[in-house]
Amino acid sequence: RRGRVVVVGSANVDLVVDVPRHPGGGETILGGDLRRSPGGKGANQAVAAARAGGADTSFVGALGRDESGELLLASLDRAGVRTDLVERVEAPTGTALITVSPDGENAIVVAPGANSHVRIGAAQADRLAAADVVLAQLEIPLDVVLAAAAARRPGAVLALNAAPSRDLPDEMWAALDLLVVNEHEALDLAGGPADPAGTASPDPVERLAAVLLERVPAVVVTLGGAGCLVAQRGAAPVRVPAPRVDAVDTTGAGDTFCGVLAAALAGGSTLVDAARTASFAGALAVTRPGAQDAVPTADEVTTFAHPEQLP
Ligand code: RIB
Ligand code: NA
Repeated sequence: RRGRVVVVGSANVDLVVDVPRHPGGGETILGGDLRRSPGGKGANQAVAAARAGGADTSFVGALGRDESGELLLASLDRAGVRTDLVERVEAPTGTALITVSPDGENAIVVAPGANSHVRIGAAQADRLAAADVVLAQLEIPLDVVLAAAAARRPGAVLALNAAPSRDLPDEMWAALDLLVVNEHEALDLAGGPADPAGTASPDPVERLAAVLLERVPAVVVTLGGAGCLVAQRGAAPVRVPAPRVDAVDTTGAGDTFCGVLAAALAGGSTLVDAARTASFAGALAVTRPGAQDAVPTADEVTTFAHPEQLP
């Protein structure tokens, strides 16, 4: 079944430079050639849900009336994302300044621009009401995420990729069905390392997930090359391994994971099965430069997704 996903979030043009290492404060270093490519956590996740996940995907976002906006629209269109709910606003398209070190790790600064003007109007609300999964991140104002949450139909899953991390109000926690975070974000949201006395597990990630499960029914903690942990209320946590790959550029790999996870859930997969597929898709994205440009096709994911790839 082809599920319906609505992604509400940011779209950025990524300005990327390969660097021998990330600069410190007050430091100047020389890098490689400047690359310009489509990114933004929201748009990346929408591209992944459509192209790699095969879902009927709509993107709710805002772009400037500039050439960067055209670049992003073209990338979303190419992936088969519905862009009729994307608004053009009087602000520059969001821009991300990204350095990538030789191990594929990135450091990112985002200038939000048009992303501060995303809104949930009547047309956006109608599409949200028809979604199986609503997926959001935190590069747009939190009020917009809350409005999207309010517009979804009962029974639809609200998934939040809490990146970049920030405090969440009670209202947000109450609305969430699924939280997807990396270890740093999990630590921030749990308010520091979890108290071992409170839970049964000796594993620090499982303990963090147990703390988060007090506030949200399901949590996926992504662990980079180590895969992810799927934790759900009333069930034992499940470790999902990631295939071993050579990292070229990790930018947007987490977004590919989130988009494919949402698409699989919308299509009726269990959370653990969705995480397995998403893990393969995320690993493929790591082997290619760029964010949206690195998102594999659904066929590539299917061909790659075999247990013998796993450690
Ligand atoms: O998650 C990767 C993304 O973060 C980049 O594409 C950049 O635009 C920032 O939003
Ligand atoms: Na990549």
